[in-house]
Amino acid sequence: MPIIDEKVSLQHVVTMESLSTEEVMGLIKRGLSFKRGEAVALPQTGYVSNLFFEDSTRTHKSFEMAELRLGLSMIDFDAKTSSVNKGETLYDTILTMSALGVDICVIRHSEVEYYQELIDSPTITASIVNGGDGSGQHPSQSLLDLMTIYEEFGHFEGLKIMIAGDLAHSRVAKSNMQMLQRLGAHLFFAGPSEWYTEEFAAYGQHVSLDEIVEEADVLMFLRVQHERHDGNENFSKEDYHRLHGLTQERYERMKDTAIIMHPAPVNRDVEIADELVEAPKSRIVRQMQNGVFVRMAILEAVLHARAKK
Ligand code: CP
Repeated sequence: MPIIDEKVSLQHVVTMESLSTEEVMGLIKRGLSFKRGEAVALPQTGYVSNLFFEDSTRTHKSFEMAELRLGLSMIDFDAKTSSVNKGETLYDTILTMSALGVDICVIRHSEVEYYQELIDSPTITASIVNGGDGSGQHPSQSLLDLMTIYEEFGHFEGLKIMIAGDLAHSRVAKSNMQMLQRLGAHLFFAGPSEWYTEEFAAYGQHVSLDEIVEEADVLMFLRVQHERHDGNENFSKEDYHRLHGLTQERYERMKDTAIIMHPAPVNRDVEIADELVEAPKSRIVRQMQNGVFVRMAILEAVLHARAKK
């Protein structure tokens, strides 16, 4: 297939819901073509700034790697040494970056939907790529997850996909459930039932891990996000792992063709037994590798939209 058919053009990438199915499949296929080594064909070069107001290893560094591979120019930003410390608001930081000539701002911030006032602004001309908004959305993680599933199975229709763990605080679960349902997968949720809130019921039923482990094609575990809990929880790592984690015994009950996923960082021996993180059925390292390629596709799509304006 010629590269041009896989190209997508997007002004901003802030939620999965705002992407059409064709756009999602175009980004996945473009990510796969970058992975195969197909040439970069940008309409123009550009300046990108990665503004991370919450901690990150994978998202931050894989956007940087994607930018380097695309030959884009990076404008360094460190929230800890910026005028944020003098009371500068997020809006004013992005207004400044845009005024300086930055084309794309990749942003991670704790405020849910922080991006809305930025994309609504008549003055801010920079495109916004959401690297995670609190417990809201994480579209680039969702796209790399989808790319990994598509690469494994070649389709989504009819796949049984379990998402287990800290659902209530997970932007990954929310981004993935919306798109996976639209793509025809059957979703199941597992983990502590108090984290399965009403918003998940429209996407799939709550089951125990032991009920689904032998049937699922994809077992996606989520990190327990202690930093978003109220600090009063009575949490036992051992109990969580025994009741809701992937143990060796559960691993052996998985289908031969089933895969393990986790957005990482993994709390080893909590969500997944230490020795299973890199086991043959695990695709956790591949998820991280695919993150670079799908983020190249995202940035390319945004530059295409900007070139058309
Ligand atoms: N999966 C993910 O978003 O990881 P980081 O928090 O390290 O970016």
